[in-house]
Amino acid sequence: MDFENLFDVSGKVVLVTGGAGGIGRGIVGAFVAGGARVYIASRRNLSQAAGELAEYGPGECIALQADLAADADIAGLANALEEREGRLDVLVNNAALGGFLHHFENFPMEDYDTMVGVNLRAPFALTKECLPLLTKAGTPEAHASVINIVSVDGIRIAGDNDWAYGLSKAGLIHLTRQLAGREGAKHGREGGRHITYNAIAPGPFPGMLDEFLETEEGRAAVGAVTVSGRVGKPEDIGAACVYLASRAGSYVTGAVIPVDGGLLVGTKANS
Ligand SMILES: NC(=O)c1ccc[n+]([C@@H]2O[C@H](COP(=O)([O-])OP(=O)(O)OC[C@H]3O[C@@H](n4cnc5c(N)ncnc54)[C@H](OP(=O)(O)O)[C@@H]3O)[C@@H](O)[C@H]2O)c1
Repeated sequence: MDFENLFDVSGKVVLVTGGAGGIGRGIVGAFVAGGARVYIASRRNLSQAAGELAEYGPGECIALQADLAADADIAGLANALEEREGRLDVLVNNAALGGFLHHFENFPMEDYDTMVGVNLRAPFALTKECLPLLTKAGTPEAHASVINIVSVDGIRIAGDNDWAYGLSKAGLIHLTRQLAGREGAKHGREGGRHITYNAIAPGPFPGMLDEFLETEEGRAAVGAVTVSGRVGKPEDIGAACVYLASRAGSYVTGAVIPVDGGLLVGTKANS
């Protein structure tokens, strides 16, 4: 048995989309703290955020810019990584849109397209574009890893009027499992790819829920629905990502891991 450096991610090249958001910061911080070189990308200029996140080093944080609703930007991200690194050890599809709550009868198809475009189509396209880089990175000793950040709302039936978000996340869970089962069929075999595909399903965290969590009522509601009785901390998701990307997670593929403070098993979820 070899327990040395089980959770080591030092020297890995990582891309985290939406890396400066509420949950993204926890993912990036955990990899930077572990000595990885982490690229973050979203629509905004993230130079300042990259500087702040680099302070968790020994690793590095580098800002790129991309609108994941645009195929050209998705291809541009993969090209930038090809030029700078020639490989990618870890892709975290984290960026997403929340909101867009409407009654089903009146749901604007434009909103549906926007949400499904960023939350489901973009991870599909980016994973496809990054596949050659992930293939180059993964070896039998050190696998490459695709981690899709989904949601408990992709597992349970989401709240009233939440028609497109839960559906987009359920689709991303299916894509994760399909990639693990089909692409990953060659995982670990001679001449095959050494890439794992997993999903992490957060419960309530800072980020998309900021407005809700600012109110006492919101925090109390989260306390009531989770077994842990608290809002998640960004590093709770970062820790799960480091597990999946390191040797510790090399035998895990096609999994959907809830990091939800027990929301899915709590009495409220099952009453
Ligand atoms: N917070 C929660 O309670 C919670 C619960 C379950 C699941 N999640 C999931 O966790 C992930 C992170 O969410 P979060 O709460 O951290 O949300 P957030 O703070 O709103 O961050 C989302 C990030 O996505 C980026 N983004 C949105 N549209 C984009 C586009 N077209 N192109 C590129 N980047 C785009 C945003 O950056 P720009 O605005 O700069 O583009 C932002 O940094 C998401 O997948 C979300 O569904 C969150």
